[in-house]
Amino acid sequence: MKIPKSVPVSKAIESVGKEVTIKGWIHRKRSSGGKAFIVVRDRTNTIQCVADKSSIKEKEWDAIDRAYLESSVIIKGMVKKDERAPNGVELEAKEVIIVHSGEQFPITEYQSPEFLLDVRHLWLRSQRMIHAMRARSYVFKYAREFLDKQGFFEITPPLLTISAGETGANLFEVQYFDQKMYLTESSQLYAEAMIYSLEKVYSFAPSWRAEKSRTTKHLAEYWHLEPEMSYFDNDMNMKLQEKLVSHIANSLAKHNADILAYFGVSAGSLMEIKPPFKRISYTEAIDLLQQKGSSIKWGEDFGVEHEKLLTEQEDKPIFVYNWPKEIKAFYMYTDPKNDKMVVCSDMLAPHGHGEIIGGSQREWRYDQLAENMKAKGLNMDNYKWYLDTRRYGSVPHSGFGLGVERVIKWMLNLDHIRDAIPFPRMINRMAP
Ligand code: 4AD
Ligand code: MG
Repeated sequence: MKIPKSVPVSKAIESVGKEVTIKGWIHRKRSSGGKAFIVVRDRTNTIQCVADKSSIKEKEWDAIDRAYLESSVIIKGMVKKDERAPNGVELEAKEVIIVHSGEQFPITEYQSPEFLLDVRHLWLRSQRMIHAMRARSYVFKYAREFLDKQGFFEITPPLLTISAGETGANLFEVQYFDQKMYLTESSQLYAEAMIYSLEKVYSFAPSWRAEKSRTTKHLAEYWHLEPEMSYFDNDMNMKLQEKLVSHIANSLAKHNADILAYFGVSAGSLMEIKPPFKRISYTEAIDLLQQKGSSIKWGEDFGVEHEKLLTEQEDKPIFVYNWPKEIKAFYMYTDPKNDKMVVCSDMLAPHGHGEIIGGSQREWRYDQLAENMKAKGLNMDNYKWYLDTRRYGSVPHSGFGLGVERVIKWMLNLDHIRDAIPFPRMINRMAP
């Protein structure tokens, strides 16, 4: 078929008194009294089209009659004001081409979340997923835009590794010819190797975690933004993080109020996300948690309930800095004032959405790094290359990892992280 020139539905809505052609899919359909009311959607919006049996071809009328929901359609017609229509306008159809009617669409109005996950490839056409996926694309765009302005180079790390980038407790194993490799749990170590040449770099890549936890914020495959900067201490690191997160929030507020409104989030609340974010030390956080009635003890890591207690009253993210060395990764810089602690920070999203960033100053001293690795029982053979980076012109440096879906979950106030990614991978979910 010859594909006609068309305008997006959002443009059609603004074209009262003009003839336009739109291309899209049938979102809703009903007919009464010789008229068919077809709500057409494209990625920009939906519009009600009215086809009068007497003013279109008989063949076209029959095709409309037979068309299922989600049929693809091209409609040419006149845009008219109509108070009764959802957008205040209506497209009076002159020509209706049902491009593909297909089969009956399996998703009807009330469906269980499990079913919607089974037909995720089709559920992506829903208004909810269209809005979420647009937001996701914008979050990527705003993050890149910010880092680009700050003079960062984007790098592309390997995703198959022989060494663990974090604790190694949650690695997925991969058969690699006749050896074992792992899907990366963080690209940090490779980003670090590139700061000696490019100085400020970031990778935007998937990370995998074989997390057995069935929480609303854990994916087995997620997208990880990992900046790494030479000659940065952790204070500079935190300032960069709060600027990046504010830029993403403010840009969504400025340019995507329609998406936020769909999820019931006020643009104003994301406009208020501005540096500085509150900073409390790990030790202060433990005191605070205990005052709030938690039984957590100094030296323990936070769980979902602790993050919630610390942030449910907050409107902006907070930093929890300076953690016990024992519970953090081998690459963190040992606090020169207290060798039980490491110089690092987690950023927790407000309203209990949990950790969105983990960052630290890196241990840049060869001897201390080697000692940390031995103490954590790592196989040194796998990390020779990494230690090498500290043998020649080592510099103080810092970096962080931001979980993209966690940020989306917070900013759109989603109740589950799975709606922040098109095809979620979770412990009990591998397909589609
Ligand atoms: O705190 P994490 O484990 O830190 C690292 O991996 C560092 N190497 C990052 C770095 O410094 N370059 O993970 C970083 C972030 C978390 O704060 C969280 O936002 C996200 O990654 N994350 C997850 N997101 C979804 N599902 C999971 N299972 C996640 N695990 C971590
Ligand atoms: Mg972390």
